[in-house]
Amino acid sequence: MRVIITKDYDEMSRKAAEFIVKELKNKPDSILCLATGTTPVSTYKELVRLYKDKKVDFSKVSTFNLDEYYGLADDHPQSYHYFMNEHLFRHINLKKSNSMIPDGKVKDIEKYCFHYEWEIKQKGGIDLQLLGLGRDGHVGFNEPGSSLGSRTRLKTLTEETVEDNSRFFKKKDEVPRYVLTMGIGTIMEAKKILLLVSGENKAGVLQKVVEGPITSMVPASALQMHRNVILIADEAAASRLSRKDYYVYVEKMQERHEKGEI
Ligand code: F6R
Repeated sequence: MRVIITKDYDEMSRKAAEFIVKELKNKPDSILCLATGTTPVSTYKELVRLYKDKKVDFSKVSTFNLDEYYGLADDHPQSYHYFMNEHLFRHINLKKSNSMIPDGKVKDIEKYCFHYEWEIKQKGGIDLQLLGLGRDGHVGFNEPGSSLGSRTRLKTLTEETVEDNSRFFKKKDEVPRYVLTMGIGTIMEAKKILLLVSGENKAGVLQKVVEGPITSMVPASALQMHRNVILIADEAAASRLSRKDYYVYVEKMQERHEKGEI
């Protein structure tokens, strides 16, 4: 895992957006898989700014999303459909027909989840997977105990996640208890993974994800088995990494290498 530590959330977001833009320059018809939540908000804002500055083009890009609350209609203000539209899609030139988010109102869940996986395969697989990290170690909504080989399915949220996500709802009772989420197995098939983590409240779990044992109790720890994960974490989130100095040193050497100094 490549570990990039930034001064703060803003720098993390800028670097993440730059990374995505670079990927799209190399492959304009990239298949992205996107996340919601607080973490990627400024990354999306920066992507919109770069799009308006004509630094990036989404016309050939396709997107999937990791998850959606089960039971919420697309136009519900807390749905992830609504989130993606507000924060990114309506500001850029991504074709509507090229984006797919799990349908929270679907009746035949099993069939639909199978179809979602099939759509990803049909497109040729995910080139770049963007991830945030839950305080309980989830990515997507693969809560602790999720099979590390899991596929897209219905999942029950933990009390901790319901509590965390209640900040977006008027009352905790309104937070849906179920979600449709891509599995750890689905995520692990992405060609590249960009994991963004910010804030001191994620420092403990991030240490386990990067340096702890691989376990379904910390589902994101499965990322240690992926060959191409880039973690961008701000200082606060990285504060409990025991090999922090080493990660910083490696990145410094990488920068010098890119400048042709070594
Ligand atoms: C959202 C998702 C979740 C979030 C995670 C962190 O689509 O898949 O795994 O990335 O819950 O959420 P924030 O960024 O709000 O702390």
